[in-house]
Amino acid sequence: MAAQGFVTGKGEAMSDVRIRKYRRGDREAVLRITQESFDGFCIDANMEEHFGRIANTTWQQRKRDGIDYDLRRNRDNAFVAEMNGQVVGYICTRIYRDLATGHVANMAVAKDWQGHGIGKMLMRAALDHFRDCGMRYARIETLEQNYKGQQLYPAFGFKEIGRQIFYLREL
Ligand SMILES: CC(C)(COP(=O)(O)OP(=O)(O)OC[C@H]1O[C@@H](n2cnc3c(N)ncnc32)[C@H](O)[C@@H]1OP(=O)(O)O)[C@@H](O)C(=O)NCCC(=O)NCCS
Repeated sequence: MAAQGFVTGKGEAMSDVRIRKYRRGDREAVLRITQESFDGFCIDANMEEHFGRIANTTWQQRKRDGIDYDLRRNRDNAFVAEMNGQVVGYICTRIYRDLATGHVANMAVAKDWQGHGIGKMLMRAALDHFRDCGMRYARIETLEQNYKGQQLYPAFGFKEIGRQIFYLREL
């Protein structure tokens, strides 16, 4: 599966963006994008904001480890956006055959390239992948503070079905 598109960037001409399947060699780029993009948009960062360092790790490490784990287990369901040979975004998905449901577990675009339509291209690719796999539903979650997600997902036809509250305490 590969899709092609164009984005207009910072004073540059149109750039060619290709969405393709994740490959092992993309790992470092994906993890770097994770660390730079999720500030303010992930529960690990919230934990740190309220409680300081958790178990001597940073939120970036924990988020990075979570994505790394997902990539190992679901490599064939992950896609990257490549521009001029560089990975500038990714989407990690899972296939729940029993539920006929595809799950978008995580997605991010490199900070410098956010707001240029790459997130939409990645989402389109994920939904096409779910259809190709015979799924009937697609699922995604986002934090209440993630104002971008709350615009993007309904625009792709996702309906809100519930809200969850995260709690944490010291022992
Ligand atoms: C969320 C994210 C993946 C979107 O990727 P992107 O390439 O920046 O998004 P796009 O340019 O394709 O824009 C897609 C839509 O997102 C929404 N959006 C993007 N930037 C926005 C902003 N600053 N404010 C509000 N909505 C915004 C809009 O609905 C936009 O569609 P529109 O341009 O037709 O209005 C990206 O911003 C990101 O990496 N954010 C940090 C990590 C994250 O939050 N991941 C998702 C966790 S659930």
